[in-house]
Amino acid sequence: MNHTLPDPTDPLDRTRFPLEEWRLLETDWDDADIGTTETLFAVGNGYIGMRGNPEEGRPAHTHGTYVNGFHETWPIRHAEDAHGFARIGQTIVNVPDAKVLKIYVDDEPFLLPMADLDAYERFLDFRQGVLRRKVIWRTSAGKRVQINTTRMVSFTHRHLAIMTIDITMLSGEAPIVISSQVVNRQDGRDDYSVMTKTAAGSSDPRKAESVDRRILEPQSQWCGDGRLLLTYRCADSKMTLAVGADHTMITENTYSEISSAEGDHAKHVYRINAEQGVPIHLEKLVAYHTSRGAPVRELADRCQRTLERAREVGVEAIHDDQITWLERFWEECDVELPEQPAIQQAVRWNLFQLAQAAARAEGQGIAAKGVTGSGYSGHYFWDTEIYVMPFLTYTMPQAARCALRFRYTMLDAARKRASEMAALGALFPWRTINGEEASAYYAAGTAQYHIDADVAYALMKYVRAADDQDFLHHEGADILVETARFWADLGFWRSNGGDEFHIHSVTGPDEYTTVVNDNLFTNIMARDNLATAARTVRELKETQPEVYARLQARLDLDCEEVDEWERCAEAMFIPYDERIGVHPQDMHFLERELWDLANTPASKRPLMLHYHPLVIYRFQVLKQADVVMALFLQGDDFTPEEKRANFEYYDPITTGDSTLSAVVQAIIAAEVGYYDLALRYFHSGLFVDLDDRHRNTSDGVHVASTGGVWSALVYGFGGLRDHNGQLAFNPRLPEPWPEMRFRLRLKDSRLRVRVTHDSARFELASGDEVTLTVADEEITVRPGEPVEVALPPRPADLGETAGGLALVGGHRKDGSIMTASVPRSRQG
Ligand code: BGC
Repeated sequence: MNHTLPDPTDPLDRTRFPLEEWRLLETDWDDADIGTTETLFAVGNGYIGMRGNPEEGRPAHTHGTYVNGFHETWPIRHAEDAHGFARIGQTIVNVPDAKVLKIYVDDEPFLLPMADLDAYERFLDFRQGVLRRKVIWRTSAGKRVQINTTRMVSFTHRHLAIMTIDITMLSGEAPIVISSQVVNRQDGRDDYSVMTKTAAGSSDPRKAESVDRRILEPQSQWCGDGRLLLTYRCADSKMTLAVGADHTMITENTYSEISSAEGDHAKHVYRINAEQGVPIHLEKLVAYHTSRGAPVRELADRCQRTLERAREVGVEAIHDDQITWLERFWEECDVELPEQPAIQQAVRWNLFQLAQAAARAEGQGIAAKGVTGSGYSGHYFWDTEIYVMPFLTYTMPQAARCALRFRYTMLDAARKRASEMAALGALFPWRTINGEEASAYYAAGTAQYHIDADVAYALMKYVRAADDQDFLHHEGADILVETARFWADLGFWRSNGGDEFHIHSVTGPDEYTTVVNDNLFTNIMARDNLATAARTVRELKETQPEVYARLQARLDLDCEEVDEWERCAEAMFIPYDERIGVHPQDMHFLERELWDLANTPASKRPLMLHYHPLVIYRFQVLKQADVVMALFLQGDDFTPEEKRANFEYYDPITTGDSTLSAVVQAIIAAEVGYYDLALRYFHSGLFVDLDDRHRNTSDGVHVASTGGVWSALVYGFGGLRDHNGQLAFNPRLPEPWPEMRFRLRLKDSRLRVRVTHDSARFELASGDEVTLTVADEEITVRPGEPVEVALPPRPADLGETAGGLALVGGHRKDGSIMTASVPRSRQG
């Protein structure tokens, strides 16, 4: 074994980040990777998010405080314009930073890079939901000062964040200044010229767009009685924001305080005569309120009310509420992996991120980076429906419902967009904050029409698991109908010896191949969307005539179009190549040359940062799972042999340049029998951020991957499949793991599942009986009657895939010979 290589199952430096199952603990501060650690130690509740910047405000890679959905708009200027191109750019705004608590002892500022530290630790506690930092600083005068801070964004009070600071002079006495600030860092430079890193001057499409002008226009400033209150309006989107901060000082030391508030900066400053051993305790309560329409005055009032209420309840009680909230969260959502402490810690960090991204998103979406960074400009993608929704559906159904209701609120904009695209029904935007398409590059954006089917898919999974007929009747059915209409209109009929329904000029999930005909993933998802919409409408007609009548009137629905959806679904063209025995990703995919990934130097990865899109498009090379994604989402449409053949073909030509890939490859690898490979893919997904595998964790958490980690555990190794709402388990626990335990919420039943290598045990923690199958045996789990099922032995591991590349030298259907190569530039 080569000891210089990090252990893939535990890549973290355990001296700096000791092994802890319930915390991410850092024992050494290092500014070499502050961008990454700012993301790893971010705190949020799905509405407010604060990056792990030090209280002192510097140093920083990216100062970041975000409020979900709070964005600026600008007109997108296309160098060459065309009808229907996205018009309104949208970018999440870095809202005024209330994290700042600067400390001076004997007039010397406390700054981590310079400080002589006797002790340092910082940790994010997954059970307390608090970020804590504890340091002992030896000042230049040789005085020892203990400084402990906490930062928390409340899960129970959506608009509230709390910071505390405890300072004690351990030796000597000194004048201490604490300057608590609220700073608008979005506009211009902050006091130390640390600019937020955006896409300016970068060709990395994953970074945020930069808007080169003032965004936050100050509206009002007020301070008094330890409270600071600033309000702003976005110059173009006209969204409004108020931020308020309240301070409470508890100390036996004598002190004075003074406040000031200007347009971009407010502060409350304490001057304390600190005596040795006499503690100083400061509480800073922060409230954010934002709106699309409400005047700033009203938002200022809301901030005042949030602060009053928090003051009444008290910091300690709100910290306790946070613990209680998280107790429940872990009770419902945890995945336990006994005897695997490193994996366990990483799993919990990932699950905790899902809570931080989604818990209180409520009327907003779940952005690709949650509320931890400005990557992808804070946009919402299919990431929510396909990667995050399974977790929410089975563990936090209320949050799942909110995410779907949020999509529903975008239905009108989606109708408008479909019409702009000369289609009937509704087309959801590929990326957006406010409901309008914000993807300036249509080939990898708007052309991903599959978003419509992804939304329909996620909504049906939720409706079936939660049995939420109310949502289906009032919102869900409308989405199903409008998306089905879209597909029926987008596709077209062609007779090739029989009637076939085709969909042309689309892009599937794999963004390394764009604007193609009959993308398998799109067609198979659209087929499901059409069939499900037809079935749902028919069922409503029969069983809920009133609901149906309202739906019919609301959407001007007629029976003939429902027949048409059924016909389209039945006749949907599904590309298959008999000769090679795989499903082509699209009609012409197999005609392309293969990209020789094995011989592509690491310096050329990810491909999208080193090759023009057209170079990539010429090849069979994937950014992320596409057919393999279809094998997972629509698994009952494929035979086991087809799954294996497809996986073997696509796996070696999948780069995994998107973090949305590894987790899906893990699930299918586990299903078809590449167990070791499945585990390796799982590790890649698990450590995407903790080990900064894609070198862009500094832009924010890869939220889709965190959801994918849950899916890889539950669907991949737990072997869950839930096609049409029927639960079936075929567990395939990785060899090194003795056991895995997870929980699922089904309607009102809470199911506990324990999987070992030779058995699966199901128990109800509450609720009514649940019927499911395990390794093809049907069982019913009743309250108080756990059921344990013996599992058949796992077939032998298939080893490594050679797949598509093994076909090099072989002949295609058209007789051409397959070759594989790496495109080269003169520089190599
Ligand atoms: C992926 C998309 C994804 C987006 C946001 C891209 O790199 O290709 O599938 O939706 O990132 O996470």
